[in-house]
Amino acid sequence: MLLVKNIGVLQTPLGVHSLKGSAQAENLKLRNAAVAISDGKITAIYKDGELPKLSDDIQVIDAENCLVTPGLVDCHTHLVFGGWRHNEIPLKLGGATYLDILKAGGGILDTVRHTREMSEDELYFKSKGFIDEMLHLGVTTVESKSGYGLNLKDELKMLRVNKRLDKNTPIDVVSTFLGAHAIPPEYSDRPDEYIDYLCEVVLPEVKRNDLAEFCDVFCEDSVFDVAQSKKMLLAGRKLGLGSKIHADEIEAIGGAVLAGELGAVSAEHLIATDERGMDSMREGGVTAALLPATSFYLGKTYAPAREMIKKGIPVAIASDFNPGSCPSLNLQFAINLGYLKYRMLPEEILTAVTLNAACAIARGESIGTIEIGKQADLVIWNAPNFEMVCYRFGSNQIKKVIKKGEILQ
Ligand code: NIG
Ligand code: FE
Repeated sequence: MLLVKNIGVLQTPLGVHSLKGSAQAENLKLRNAAVAISDGKITAIYKDGELPKLSDDIQVIDAENCLVTPGLVDCHTHLVFGGWRHNEIPLKLGGATYLDILKAGGGILDTVRHTREMSEDELYFKSKGFIDEMLHLGVTTVESKSGYGLNLKDELKMLRVNKRLDKNTPIDVVSTFLGAHAIPPEYSDRPDEYIDYLCEVVLPEVKRNDLAEFCDVFCEDSVFDVAQSKKMLLAGRKLGLGSKIHADEIEAIGGAVLAGELGAVSAEHLIATDERGMDSMREGGVTAALLPATSFYLGKTYAPAREMIKKGIPVAIASDFNPGSCPSLNLQFAINLGYLKYRMLPEEILTAVTLNAACAIARGESIGTIEIGKQADLVIWNAPNFEMVCYRFGSNQIKKVIKKGEILQ
């Protein structure tokens, strides 16, 4: 058994379902607490200085009066990719937009060229470096999307990397098929045919090899329209893949409305979303996965997080780590932006990066809170409270990470 003792404040949302409205701000806070862990699961929680009877076979970690929360869950990343895209910065600073660069054959398509050139092993070792960094920053579960292969061979290669990372590293990796991330050069000007190819050729192989749990699509002006997105997500659903959608990132073309109609597990980005989109999401029980570091990096406005909470839409926050629109994998920075730019309360933010993020990848039953029976994924912070985590930025405020009851650092 492992015992984490001397916890100054243990702070956690509760339950297995995403929290919305005023419930998003409800966190349990226990003073002078301790957590007992056996076989990778939480077995007991103590407060007000209570402790179990100590024996020799108990390994004890002293939290030194610091804050303990659930491990962070990053529910939206594109962490497997070839190359980088720093060459785009001068173009951006010169006035080119994200979509201008993509339309000119750069952007995602540039990363596709580099990803296709890399072997599975090369991609694996590159992404494993990112996983190590994420763990140090307190992330204990991460979602990872394909979408830089855009053909059968290279999409499967990316998804196999996800599987290997999940198996061989301490982090849990949830794999998402995002073949519909851009229109590849082989299909330029034929997006409908590309969607048919994905549905008829690639998706069945993804399923046959059990390589993804979710299907995602970039529903955006000059990428995939609502009808194409719907076709893709329904094809995924038919094979048992849950639906996620990149919606209303740049233009509100109907992605969030579609998410609600389909009852997608999450709609992601939502910078430009409108009333109709939000109403539809609320009715469909969709979790909004917001990506403030992408707004920061693209110099865009920030998604209307407060309005979403007011409307009763559960809000999650993720990094969106990728080489083009957010080259940062630091979820702690997204937390800072959630506070300053979304004006969310620290308690709402903690729910957004733990339980609601877990629910955005269908893991609410097993992770996202500190409760008896849940997987023992915890972080000990170099901070006395979560306000401090939201306030300080640029430093790694993690002291120790515990994953499935194992101490990682
Ligand atoms: O979530 N918007 C689409 N996909 C990614 C960006 C990918 C890229 O630019 O390489 C995103 O921001
Ligand atoms: Fe993304």
